[in-house]
Amino acid sequence: MIFNKDLLATAEPPLIYLYKLAQNKREKGIPVIDLGQAIPDMIPDMNSIRQLYPILEEKKTHSYSADLGIKETRRKIAESMNVAEENLIITSGANNAFFQVLLLVSRYDDEIIVFSPFYFNHTMAIDMLGRKKRILEMKDSENEWCIDTEELRKSINKRTKAVVVVSPNNPTGAVFNKNDIERVQEICIESDIAFIYDEVYREFYLTDKERYNPLYLDSSLRNTFIIGSFSKTFGITGWRIGYLIVSSSYIPELLKIQDTIQICAPVPSQRFVGEILLNRSPQSNDYRETLIMRRDFLKNALLKSRNLVWKSVDGAFFGLFPYKKKIPSQKLSLELLKTHNIIVVPGAAFGKNAEFHLRISFGNADEKILANAISIVDNYIEELKNE
Ligand SMILES: Cc1ncc(COP(=O)(O)O)c(C=O)c1O
Repeated sequence: MIFNKDLLATAEPPLIYLYKLAQNKREKGIPVIDLGQAIPDMIPDMNSIRQLYPILEEKKTHSYSADLGIKETRRKIAESMNVAEENLIITSGANNAFFQVLLLVSRYDDEIIVFSPFYFNHTMAIDMLGRKKRILEMKDSENEWCIDTEELRKSINKRTKAVVVVSPNNPTGAVFNKNDIERVQEICIESDIAFIYDEVYREFYLTDKERYNPLYLDSSLRNTFIIGSFSKTFGITGWRIGYLIVSSSYIPELLKIQDTIQICAPVPSQRFVGEILLNRSPQSNDYRETLIMRRDFLKNALLKSRNLVWKSVDGAFFGLFPYKKKIPSQKLSLELLKTHNIIVVPGAAFGKNAEFHLRISFGNADEKILANAISIVDNYIEELKNE
């Protein structure tokens, strides 16, 4: 059998082995505390779900829609993002949108710049498509992760086709400074390469920092590709729906990709979002308050801990925190699950400079769960010797 060598060289999804082990434990009746997955613990309200029933009875809900999305839903989403309908296509989530942009702007061996700690599905997509990833490490300034824009400028070369920025950031929970994102975008515009802006967590700013609007610098969307998702906004990760904002002049090419890899985003999901969820005031407003309380709680717990170090979390619902012992993070997270039934994600999954860190999510855990889990993790690390 001949395999795609680029795929063989692509890293495995880092959470799978942890979740397999957790599943085995749960099947044996052992409860597992999950601070791993980047998911919110809310789902749409029951009224919204009930409104969906008659929609599900309509025949058209069960067929393909237009490739780019149901016209009315596209309009609705575009309106909510302050862009024109012809600049938006509906995708089966943000990962799908990212894959599409890579196919649109780059060929085999072209270089894509990502900042590490990175979102591993981005680097996996780059690897499996045979693109070259160029990893620039974020810097640590006053306990905040930030982008070194000067290093970025020097790193662009003839092969570079795109720079990826995720803000609010997965895995760090950082919200990058407006000036830094602006500078990255400017560099992309000057170099005439793609600025891929993933704002999956746009509804989860846990700070007063202003939301970055990539349209200010590039209203024609010549170089800018904005990726978004409803997975987290509405707590519907399973419905697989997101979007891509692009120049309408690129749509004919994107249509080829969309038609080939998904035809259209799931129609029940498009109708749920377009006809029901976007008509309601976002639940995420209340939920954001909950997240801010949990974030503050986690901050206190880490500041009091002996072995975990707090780093600012200004967005999303997780952070990437250093720990004080030199134990590989893969080993640490596996042992924590095996011996104490806690899932945390090893920093190593997000790049070299994320080693000796753990990503801890509070999207799926209230204060009580967090208090218990952090004390277990802290005590566990306390007993370990440096390797
Ligand atoms: C930064 C980032 N981009 C994209 C995704 C995937 O989103 P979706 O469910 O819309 O594919 C995630 C999910 O965790 C994410 O953290």
